[in-house]
Amino acid sequence: MTDFVEYRPRSESSFRPDPQVAIRPATTGDTRGLAVVRSARGGSVEEHLEASQRLIERLPVILVAESDGEIVGWCGAQRSSIEPDAEPEWLIAGITVVPELRRRGIAALLLGGVMGAVRSDEPGAAIFSVINARNLASIDLHEGLGFSEIARRAEIARIEFAGGEGVLLRSRPDGTAARE
Ligand SMILES: CC(C)(COP(=O)(O)OP(=O)(O)OC[C@H]1O[C@@H](n2cnc3c(N)ncnc32)[C@H](O)[C@@H]1OP(=O)(O)O)[C@@H](O)C(=O)NCCC(=O)NCCS
Repeated sequence: MTDFVEYRPRSESSFRPDPQVAIRPATTGDTRGLAVVRSARGGSVEEHLEASQRLIERLPVILVAESDGEIVGWCGAQRSSIEPDAEPEWLIAGITVVPELRRRGIAALLLGGVMGAVRSDEPGAAIFSVINARNLASIDLHEGLGFSEIARRAEIARIEFAGGEGVLLRSRPDGTAARE
C-alpha cells in the first residue's frame, strides 16, 4: 500500500495551472484546510489538525494553494541537518495536492514558490529534498524545477526508507547540481 500517485510521464495535460488557483503563505486560519489536504495521504482530517497547526506555526516557509476558497495543496521548507552534526540546510517539507486537482501544475507552482521564498531570504541557498525512490512522480516534479539527485540510500536526514531507498536531491541557485 502506498500513497504515491501512479507514475504517468508525458501527460497531455502538461503544466496547465488552474487560473483560479492562488499560491500564498499559510496562516493559522488554514489549519483545517491543510489537514484536509494532508489527509489525502492517509489518516482522518481530525488526526491531522494538531500537526497542521504546528506546521503553520513553526515552518519558516509554508505555502498553500487555494481554489474557490478551499485549500487544495501545500508545500513548505525548514532548516534541518542532512548529515548528523552538519550545519542545517534548507529542506523541502512535504508537497501534496488534493487528488481532484492533480496534474494541473499546482505542485510545480507550490514548489517553485517555496524555492523563491527561501531564496528571497537567502539568495545563495542550496535547497534539498528527500523523496522515496519509488515516488517517480515527485522525482520528476523536482527535476522539472532544477533539482538533481546527489545521493540514494536507505536513510537520509533521519528519514528511514524501510526495505527501500530514499533519494536526496539538491537545487542550487545557479542551476548547477551535478552528482557528487
Ligand atoms: C506528487 C504531487 C504532489 C504532484 O502534484 P501535481 O499538482 O499533480 O503536480 P504538477 O501537475 O505540478 O506536475 C508537475 C510535474 O510533476 C511530474 N508529475 C506529477 N504527477 C505525475 C505523475 N502522476 N506521473 C509522472 N509525473 C508526474 C511531471 O513531471 C509534471 O509535469 P508534466 O505534467 O508537465 O508532465 C501529487 O501527485 C501528490 O500530492 N501526490 C501524493 C503525495 C506525494 O507523493 N508527495 C510528494 C512527497 S515528496
